[in-house]
Amino acid sequence: MAIHKSLSLAFLLFFLPFLSSHATSSFATAGLPEAEALLKWKASLSPAQALHSWSLPAANASTNAISPCKWTGISCNSLGSVTEISLPTAGLQGKIDNLSFPSFRNLVHLNLSGNTVTGTIPTHIGTLHKLMSLDLSANKISGSIPVEIGNLVNLNELVLSINHLDGSIPSTLGNLSMLTILYLFKNQISGSIPSTLGNLTKLTVLYLLQNQISGSIPPELGNLTSLNKLALNQNNLIGPIPPALGNLRNLTILSLPSNQISGSIPLEIGNLMNLKEIDMSFNPLIGSIPPTFGNLTKLTFFVPYLLSIILFLASRNDKHDKSF
Ligand SMILES: *[C@@H]1O[C@H](CO)[C@@H](O)[C@H](O)[C@H]1NC(C)=O
Ligand SMILES: *[C@@H]1O[C@H](CO)[C@@H](O)[C@H](O)[C@H]1NC(C)=O
Ligand SMILES: *[C@@H]1O[C@H](CO)[C@@H](O)[C@H](O)[C@H]1NC(C)=O
Ligand SMILES: *[C@@H]1O[C@H](CO)[C@@H](O)[C@H](O)[C@H]1NC(C)=O
Ligand SMILES: *[C@@H]1O[C@H](CO)[C@@H](O)[C@H](O)[C@H]1NC(C)=O
Ligand SMILES: *[C@@H]1O[C@H](CO)[C@@H](O)[C@H](O)[C@H]1NC(C)=O
Repeated sequence: MAIHKSLSLAFLLFFLPFLSSHATSSFATAGLPEAEALLKWKASLSPAQALHSWSLPAANASTNAISPCKWTGISCNSLGSVTEISLPTAGLQGKIDNLSFPSFRNLVHLNLSGNTVTGTIPTHIGTLHKLMSLDLSANKISGSIPVEIGNLVNLNELVLSINHLDGSIPSTLGNLSMLTILYLFKNQISGSIPSTLGNLTKLTVLYLLQNQISGSIPPELGNLTSLNKLALNQNNLIGPIPPALGNLRNLTILSLPSNQISGSIPLEIGNLMNLKEIDMSFNPLIGSIPPTFGNLTKLTFFVPYLLSIILFLASRNDKHDKSF
């Protein structure tokens, strides 16, 4: 009995390392296509110190040992599959096109912010079905935002600001029902704001400032009841301020300066009880500040607002003068 026990113990002790090494090696192979895709991308980039750890083990090592999980900026799940590529301000220089997105089926976070990434966002980015955050901001990415981004239905944060993006905002972004943050500012985006953005009911921040967006502000934006900050300044927007914006009860910042927004300020804006900052300067608005603005007790009386009142009163006087 005792002999039998010690024998089975010896058996276990002998085979345990074997079993566990077998287990880890099968996990490691899960990351193999991902490691290959990352190395291929690295090879296409200018040499970057940050990617020093991205390399294959010695040639005599087993292929099972190839795993990207310990490489700089890479995180994996328990199965050894890449879930995060996080390389903000890592001095990366090269094309985004050369990163093979379909190889990363389990990717949840992608952050390449603050590098010198060029090229266009590939349409196959739409295959990253698990992606929750995408940050490509402060790079030199050009071309348009692919409609396929609308397939990333788990996306919470979409940050494409400070690039050279052009073309229009795809209406498919209205399918990203989990989206809380949408930053597209400081690009060369044209076309109008798609009314489908009004479907993003979880959106808290919508920053479209400093583009060449035209057309009028869609009244559907008034459906964004979670919205906290709305900045559309420095675009080519025309038409009136939709009274429906008065439904944005959680709004603290409303920034509309430097557009061609016309008409009078709707009374309903006075319903935005949480407003701290409002700026409508440098727009051909007419009429007077609605009396309902007296309800906006949280408003910090900051200079651009004052300026807008002054400009606005001046424009009224001009009109008045001309009519005489
Ligand atoms: C990078 O992608 C472009 C296409 O966008 C291709 O022409 C080029 O050969 C690729 N470079 C490398 C090093 O893979
Ligand atoms: C692999 O090669 C390196 C030198 O290139 C050597 O130092 C190491 O012992 C080798 N490992 C095995 C397992 O053969
Ligand atoms: C990306 O990384 C930068 C720098 O660490 C960070 O500020 C930013 O919030 C990250 N983006 C997202 C979407 O988490
Ligand atoms: C996504 O949005 C587009 C345009 O708004 C729409 O035509 C399409 O049916 C949507 N797709 C899905 C899967 O919801
Ligand atoms: C999204 O918005 C469009 C236009 O505003 C609307 O026709 C459509 O029904 C909306 N879709 C959903 C799923 O709410
Ligand atoms: C969205 O806004 C539009 C225009 O203000 C309105 O007609 C529509 O009923 C709203 N849709 C939802 C789902 O609230």
